[in-house]
Amino acid sequence: MARKPGVLAAPLAAPAVSGSESFANDVIAGLSASPKRIPPKYFYDSEGSRLFEEITRTPEYYPTRSEHEILRMQARAMVQHFPTGAALVEFGSGACIKVRFLLDAARKLKAYVPVDIAGDFLNTEAATLRNSYPNLAILPVVADFMKPFALPDVVADLPKIGFFPGSTIGNFEPHEAASFLRHAGTILGAGAVMVVGVDLVKDEAVLNAAYNDAAGVTARFNLNVLRRINRELGGNFKLDAFEHHAFYNRDRKRIEMHLASRARQRGTVAGASFEFRAGETIHTENSYKYSPQSFAALARGAGWTLLDSWTDAKGNFAVCALGQP
Ligand code: TRP
Repeated sequence: MARKPGVLAAPLAAPAVSGSESFANDVIAGLSASPKRIPPKYFYDSEGSRLFEEITRTPEYYPTRSEHEILRMQARAMVQHFPTGAALVEFGSGACIKVRFLLDAARKLKAYVPVDIAGDFLNTEAATLRNSYPNLAILPVVADFMKPFALPDVVADLPKIGFFPGSTIGNFEPHEAASFLRHAGTILGAGAVMVVGVDLVKDEAVLNAAYNDAAGVTARFNLNVLRRINRELGGNFKLDAFEHHAFYNRDRKRIEMHLASRARQRGTVAGASFEFRAGETIHTENSYKYSPQSFAALARGAGWTLLDSWTDAKGNFAVCALGQP
């Protein structure tokens, strides 16, 4: 499963700490802050990744289906913007599913470079893809795509196309989204094209339903982070003492996900104790919504211009092609 962004990568000078130590540090720091928060990257243990896949299949969660519809209908229009003989670089490739629409349409690609932090998974997916595309060089890179990383030498002189689907860009703060686009531009180089999936501002009832599915999968996904804290960090949070709160914040144009304490209570984790007021929340994630115009403005500030954008029939979601001068 691709690493989902939370806060931007820690400064390179940060001291080396083990995975569980930085998990503990991040949770303690987040629960000591006001308002309380937990970084969203900790959602994705194996159960969290499984629940996330299940969210994408709920009837209310439209973004995945809308983006597939756009890729299916518009892939041929998208690849018109691709220079011939280019390398396609995907940031956080996960199961490498969406890219197949582009690979099928772009007959003249030289290479596909999936970048993901989950190395074993990445290599398995790359092997599967090699069977489907025997004439394409498939060159996986195991890296945290939020940090600087090197592309394989063999693609150095090829024109580059970036791919960042799933509206993952919406899980960044807007200024982080701009830094990510700038960073992607540096990695891809001058003249690059970038294809980005962006969820759109829309009827609030549709937005609220998407993050509050009736079967409660998103709620289980949200609560799973506490389960993980209990298991991996020796926490004692009572799962039934917290509830899933997700709502559209109209002023900030974002879905906010929180875990709300049902009562006044205490919880401890890794030896630290935290008080919760009744109704107090832990903020676990944001999902910003854009218009094609507001996204174009954000991209412009990061050195990209909007070449083209496509939406699904309902106008729920957009796939945008950006170009770098
Ligand atoms: N980026 C997508 C979105 O914000 C997928 C996603 C990330 C998501 N984290 C989530 C969906 C948490 C539901 C809940 O919609």
